Amino acid sequence: MINILIVGSGGREHALGWKLSASPGVDSVYFAPGNGGTKNNVDVKADDIEKLAQFAEKNRCLTVVGPETPLAMGIVDAFEKKGLPIFGPTRTAAQLESSKIWAKNFMKRNGIPTARFEIFDEAVKAKEYAKSVNHPLVVKADGLAAGKGVVVCSNQQEVIKAIDEILVEKKYGSAGNRIILEEKLDGIELSYIAISDGNTAYPMATSQDHKRAYDGDLGPNTGGMGAYSPAPIVDDDLAKEIQQKIIEKTISSMKKEGIPFKGFLYAGIMISEGKPFVLEFNARMGDPECQPIMVRMKSDLLEYVQACIHGNLSSLPEISWDDKSAVCVVMVAKGYPESYPKGEEILGLDVEDRDSIVFHAGTRVESGRVLTDGGRVLGITATGNTLQEAISKAYRRVSEISWPSKFCRTDIGKKGIVVTK
Ligand code: AMP
Ligand code: GLY
Repeated sequence: MINILIVGSGGREHALGWKLSASPGVDSVYFAPGNGGTKNNVDVKADDIEKLAQFAEKNRCLTVVGPETPLAMGIVDAFEKKGLPIFGPTRTAAQLESSKIWAKNFMKRNGIPTARFEIFDEAVKAKEYAKSVNHPLVVKADGLAAGKGVVVCSNQQEVIKAIDEILVEKKYGSAGNRIILEEKLDGIELSYIAISDGNTAYPMATSQDHKRAYDGDLGPNTGGMGAYSPAPIVDDDLAKEIQQKIIEKTISSMKKEGIPFKGFLYAGIMISEGKPFVLEFNARMGDPECQPIMVRMKSDLLEYVQACIHGNLSSLPEISWDDKSAVCVVMVAKGYPESYPKGEEILGLDVEDRDSIVFHAGTRVESGRVLTDGGRVLGITATGNTLQEAISKAYRRVSEISWPSKFCRTDIGKKGIVVTK
């Protein structure tokens, strides 16, 4: 039996811990720092690597890292140096996410399909280039900007404004010391996530996120307002193409370059004219994609995590999945992703409901009351024999939970139903 330490505090971490706690090989699951819905919370922040290592060592934990920041800071390198088991990529491998420029150059030199791009560190040159091309552009800050830092522009003025904000006004600090100007692709987006030991990569179930804040994919980009799995747009041929040309190519190229990638590899993909292109890599599980994926996973996650750490993933069969559909509706505090209130009491959480799981994110417990404590508050997750059934169950539960600034999209999963017709 083994103890688990989950690093992070979001819905993704709650779902990972929920799945791992169901493993026959797991004793206790700890969360650092966790949230109002997770038990065994450890009062250590996700970026306090030294204290996390002390806790993991003392409690003989296998550590699973949720968010990108500790990965980009080198939590895996630090733990491995101390001989502590940890699941995730090293700091250098996590550059696939922490430096968009590094990732784009990596894709270019290894022939991984992605949009055409140029790199700039001077606003004047970037603007000259923007004026010289006649296709729509996307402006991206190089570094981590908490899910922001990408501006999809519809005209030249917007490009110029984004260049100024990132390179001149330093809206994202040093994350915007360099930018990418990238060709805008049209198409359908999906999340393709795999698990890898550095040599082999097995696909997780397919999923689709809803990035925009409002119904109909309108409003600002967010971390994700809801997700569902499987994504019917990915048929077997497309899945095979993404697996071979993007995932396996990335894993083998990372290995060839001497920086093997262990952990969850998340490719944000645009299907444009029937072909998959990488919009971004994440060096971690998606949030909220993780929630519907975990509820559909039939295999024992612990076995796969351990095999990745030991480098023998190929000794296991591919992961097996429940045929059911799953959906996660994210309930947010109104105003997210900009400013929003915190500290509001959440009512309706104690209703008995076997049809859904409430994964917590931005919540905390104070004097026995559960309060909102972030933008994304809860992820209501349900399964069904059809996607429509899963959606109905999730929204039924959503309607029973309330707090003053409660908000959610009302169309999570709908795009999956349109495709299946
Ligand atoms: P990223 O963080 O790079 O995935 O960008 C955030 C969002 O911006 C993506 O989920 C897409 O919706 C959009 N995006 C990024 N790159 C492009 C692109 N080249 N063409 C169109 N949309 C893009
Ligand atoms: N849901 C998108 C992400 O995890 O980055």
